[in-house]
Amino acid sequence: MVAQENFKCCDHIAGNIMSSWSTVFVTGGAGYIGSHCIVELLDAGYSVIAVDNFANSVNGERGEAPSLKRVERITGKTVTFYQCDLLDKPRLEKIFSEHKIDCVIHFAAMKAVGESMQVPLLYYKNNIVGTINLLEVMKTHGCYQLVFSSSCTVYGNPDVLPITEEHHTGNVTNVYGRTKYFIEEMLKDISAAEKNWNIICLRYFNPVGAHPSGLIGEDPTKAFTNLMPYMAQVAIGNRPNLTIFGGDYNTVDGTGVRDYIHVMDLASGHVAALNKLKKEHLRLKTYNLGTGQGVSVLQLLRTFEAVTKTMVPFEIQDRRTGDIVSMYANTSLAERELGWKAKYTLEQMCEDFWRWQTMNPNGYRGNSNNSASSENGRTSVIINGSELMDTDWAQLWEPFVQGGL
Ligand code: NAD
Ligand code: UD1
Repeated sequence: MVAQENFKCCDHIAGNIMSSWSTVFVTGGAGYIGSHCIVELLDAGYSVIAVDNFANSVNGERGEAPSLKRVERITGKTVTFYQCDLLDKPRLEKIFSEHKIDCVIHFAAMKAVGESMQVPLLYYKNNIVGTINLLEVMKTHGCYQLVFSSSCTVYGNPDVLPITEEHHTGNVTNVYGRTKYFIEEMLKDISAAEKNWNIICLRYFNPVGAHPSGLIGEDPTKAFTNLMPYMAQVAIGNRPNLTIFGGDYNTVDGTGVRDYIHVMDLASGHVAALNKLKKEHLRLKTYNLGTGQGVSVLQLLRTFEAVTKTMVPFEIQDRRTGDIVSMYANTSLAERELGWKAKYTLEQMCEDFWRWQTMNPNGYRGNSNNSASSENGRTSVIINGSELMDTDWAQLWEPFVQGGL
């Protein structure tokens, strides 16, 4: 198998288009971005083998991933899933031995900024050693095609906006961000030293939203502090108000500005990256995945209120330590070279996030108060008081309602 794969890689370097790729290995596949990306991969015709250790995602009773069960429902296709920790190299090795893997998308990481400052060693071990294990196993099996989940956090405080991929990196203010920066540097070194590697680093801006079906979304097992989930918690009545960190920044309305991107746009960015790797031997290339639009906290809040017809009470307090003022992407490189452009609007990000939130108040851990009925070919599903009527997605929900998933 190793010899075969090496031959394939040489073929690739020789410039042949690797149209025969079919199997993608996805680490962290049960997580937020991974699960949405798998929908796009399956829709694009790839077979998917996913692993996750459930450090930050919900596990089922038999070690299955409920998020991926729902992905199967959405796509009508199956996902091969293994509960596997990237720190468990022998297990990773075994999975690679049992499958012919063409390329890897590496999402698995711990990502809580605050937590990373409290337990830095855990973050360095999980994110960096996990990545080293993965790279070593890939190399042993002659698989050199990789898409890596990086973050705009590697830029630190921007000198110019919108920010391009050429902007210097490394001036990072937190441990989580430093793990991303170190891995990027490591990937640069190995791709310079070993010509077989073909790697794309994708620097995500601020992913939000959920699949429009409302079947999958973000359901971390650790507490989250990002803006949109917090805003939704206030809108749903679980928290009294939103604290806006700083109202005196030099921005359109004094509040911090970010580049929010719909998670389904991010997902399609990965398919575009795989298409690129298939066609060209890049060694290593980095792309921003954002919309290019800077949106302030207050602008997001007002859009969220209008779309969801809710009120989000807020109070403006001190700036959050380590926060940057404004960050948004120059996306022209991804547009030009990947043929990819974000297409979802801010309204759709809010609408889809809200659908996921209201239809799954307990995330993947089960719904209550649900019903479904079909009449004359029309399906109506009521989940926790929200009705999905006669839409493409209503029919997908029906079995989950019956099973109480
Ligand atoms: P997530 O926590 O929902 O998903 C990551 C998944 O990886 C989780 O299911 C977790 O259980 C798993 N995991 C962690 N360590 C593992 C290990 N050692 N072995 C196996 N599985 C492991 O996070 P996400 O938002 O989907 O992020 C995916 C990737 O994108 C991460 O690398 C993250 O750093 C990066 N990223 C995320 C954001 C964001 O805001 N969500 C922004 C920029 C970059
Ligand atoms: C955070 C992470 C970053 C990660 C990114 C994407 C930090 C310091 N950085 O960035 O590493 O790559 O998420 O997931 O956490 N805000 C409020 N009130 C809140 C929450 C946030 O006003 O309760 C404001 C923030 O000050 C900021 C904006 O909302 O201006 C977005 O914050 P957040 O969602 O936490 O993302 P980032 O700070 O961009």
